[in-house]
Amino acid sequence: MKIGILISGRGSNMVAIVEAVQNGLIFDSDVSVVISDKTSAEGLTKAKERGIETLVITRKGRTREEHDAEIIIELKKRDVELVCLAGYMRFLSSEFIRQFPNRITNIHPSLLPSFKGLDAQRQAIEYGVKVTGCTVHFVDEDLDHGAIIAQKTVEVFDDDTTESLAARILEHEHALYVEGLTRIVKRNFEIVGRKVIFK
Ligand code: GRF
Repeated sequence: MKIGILISGRGSNMVAIVEAVQNGLIFDSDVSVVISDKTSAEGLTKAKERGIETLVITRKGRTREEHDAEIIIELKKRDVELVCLAGYMRFLSSEFIRQFPNRITNIHPSLLPSFKGLDAQRQAIEYGVKVTGCTVHFVDEDLDHGAIIAQKTVEVFDDDTTESLAARILEHEHALYVEGLTRIVKRNFEIVGRKVIFK
């Protein structure tokens, strides 16, 4: 399956996906392009170092729809079938979601539906939960809402800071995103209501 990855920053999940594709763990797939909406994204260098084509498509004062339209064109040009958001910090337009039905995934650093949005790890600490984690899910039009592909729990320690918790969750994110994609690229799943059922 041809994969396109969208990033805005560090790109550690992108690297995990690229390496899993390159070593065959994510079966029969290619990462065709990594696209960033930020020129400063550290992930761009990491993608290039791994031989992946990169593009920077900034918003440049355009509407969300105009910005997304340019990204869609570049993805379609490369026959991308699966779009993986990996720390991509922008909402997608309805048109983007329509162009890739059930073919856009995201990773979020909480056990959804808890702690949606920004600073999920800080939200978990402030709430006082004892367990949080990470979620790989399909992307729909609502924030951190689409059908859940995979989840992993991570314990919260009494002395955790946002940073220590985020770092511990991140290690699990990499493995979980790869595990989720390993299953998605086999195409042997169906979505019934909100449930992703693997056959
Ligand atoms: C990760 O914590 C991911 O869950 C969230 O944004 C962060 C991106 O990190 N959506 P990286 O760019 O993949 O290193």
